[in-house]
Amino acid sequence: MSLGILISGRGSNMDAIIAATKTHALDATVAVVISDNPNAEGIKKAKKQGVVTFGLNVNDFASKKEYEEDVVKILKGHGVDLLCLAGYMRIVGDTLLTEFENKIINIHPSLLPAFRGLNPQKKALESGVKYAGCTVHYVTNILDGGPIIDQDIVAIIENDTEKTLSDRILEKEHGLYPRAIQKVIQSTATKKGEIA
Ligand code: GAR
Repeated sequence: MSLGILISGRGSNMDAIIAATKTHALDATVAVVISDNPNAEGIKKAKKQGVVTFGLNVNDFASKKEYEEDVVKILKGHGVDLLCLAGYMRIVGDTLLTEFENKIINIHPSLLPAFRGLNPQKKALESGVKYAGCTVHYVTNILDGGPIIDQDIVAIIENDTEKTLSDRILEKEHGLYPRAIQKVIQSTATKKGEIA
């Protein structure tokens, strides 16, 4: 399977996915990494790994539709089968959703359906829950609301801050995302009859 990865910043999940393809923990290759921020740290990391990258500045486009049309063109031009959002901090619009229907997945740092949207780690701490975590899910037009593929749990400990909790969740994310992608690959292959 050929993956596209969409990022906005640091790209540590992207790195974990690329690493898993290289060790063959993941039966996939990363065809292209696109960022909505040409200066994203993740773009430099992807280049170092020898992955083709594109940095698009949304402000260079007349509309979100035109920006997404370019993203679609790049993804299709690189034969992408599955689009993985990895710290992509923009709401996916109709153009991408239509062109890659049921083929976009995202990682979110909470145990969905709890704490959708921004700052989920802070919301978890403020709510008093004892367990936080991360979720990989399909992207639909409901923000952080698509079908869940897999999750992992992180216990909240005394004196946790947003930073300490986010760091422990991120560590789990790096294991979860490649595992969840492999699950998608296997279920896609089963549907196509490639696996008995
Ligand atoms: C990760 O914690 C990811 O779950 C989160 O942003 C961080 C990106 O880190 N994504 C979201 O909050 C999306 N709603 P990374 O750039 O190092 O992978």
